[in-house]
Amino acid sequence: GGCALIDTFGRRVSYLRLSVTDRCDLRCVYCMAEDMVFVPRAELLSLEELDRLASAFITLGVTTLRLTGGEPLVRRGIMDLVAGLSRHLRAGRLRDLTLTTNGTQLARHADDLARAGVRRVNVSLDTLDPVRYRVLTRGGALGTVMEGLRAAAEAGLRVKLNAVALRGITEGEVHDLIAFAHRQGMDLTFIETMPLGDVGVDRTDQYLPLDRLRREIETRWSLADTADRTGGPARYARVAETGGRIGFITPLSHSFCEGCNRVRVSATGVLYTCLGQEERVDLRAPLRGSEGDAALHAAIAAGILAKPRGHDFRIDAGGRPAVARPMSALGG
Ligand code: GTP
Ligand code: 5AD
Ligand code: SF4
Repeated sequence: GGCALIDTFGRRVSYLRLSVTDRCDLRCVYCMAEDMVFVPRAELLSLEELDRLASAFITLGVTTLRLTGGEPLVRRGIMDLVAGLSRHLRAGRLRDLTLTTNGTQLARHADDLARAGVRRVNVSLDTLDPVRYRVLTRGGALGTVMEGLRAAAEAGLRVKLNAVALRGITEGEVHDLIAFAHRQGMDLTFIETMPLGDVGVDRTDQYLPLDRLRREIETRWSLADTADRTGGPARYARVAETGGRIGFITPLSHSFCEGCNRVRVSATGVLYTCLGQEERVDLRAPLRGSEGDAALHAAIAAGILAKPRGHDFRIDAGGRPAVARPMSALGG
């Protein structure tokens, strides 16, 4: 790795979240408006460009690469991209190549992912109830995700389940979710809902602070905080009864920005240096320019130097989103 990517607050950027498409086969109510309009396909980076972009970040010191979406596994040719990027794992430049997925296409891809050197995946799963799942995802079938989870386990992939904490929904199912995840040796992370994009509802009504969820969890399970980190912002506790871990991602109730180690690139090649801010740098033009990688490296370095201190998400902003783009534009 070349020069380290260090921002003006002394934070080292070692983790890139690369969105490979803003499209998704689901429409989760907290993520997208019902009439979500996607980016025209012609504006997406090609697979070759995505590879070159990710490789530039790795050259500059990124050691964890997470492919996101939308839903990364609906991008045509995605497995070619993964297989190509795995050369950086074999060369020891990259420590972790992974994905965040909704799991609907995992049954088809789990084996190939494992074969390419992917060791773990994060799978979104907010409920174990098929009817509730269909409502939350606006049409998704829980059974396909369950098949995906089974395939992932058989392929030897470690799985972290992500559940967005939703008032009146997660509280009633939290014990079942814990039992389900830990029975299969999976970590389970709860996430506070973030005010990104206009989804057509007031998120204030959905917000469930994780302190409150934790109190509910502790009526049934004994938690012991750990110092474990998986690279992201989650703080983990171990459940004595299961031996499994529960993670808490608390952007609203306990900000973690001072330890931020990541940046994001959209599927159109725009570098966003904070999930909750507008700071961005276009990388598509330098990527397509003729000056080799020098212009691209310079644009990335300039973006890192303008990385903001953190988000200013507020849940009491009358439901107004902090930024206009939805989660699906940047993959979380
Ligand atoms: P690992 O720890 O590497 O497994 O990943 P992660 O938990 O960071 O990633 P994942 O894709 O599973 O994201 C889970 C949730 O955390 C999503 O809702 C993300 O939007 C959120 N998240 C991840 N990174 C950040 C961040 O830097 N800031 C904020 N506010 N949220 C984040
Ligand atoms: N706030 C918090 N998490 C969200 N996700 C999608 N939209 C939001 C939001 N507004 C979650 C998905 C997935 C992860 C990448 O982000 O459920 O688990
Ligand atoms: Fe798709 Fe993930 Fe958004 Fe749900 S949260 S609509 S699965 S991108």
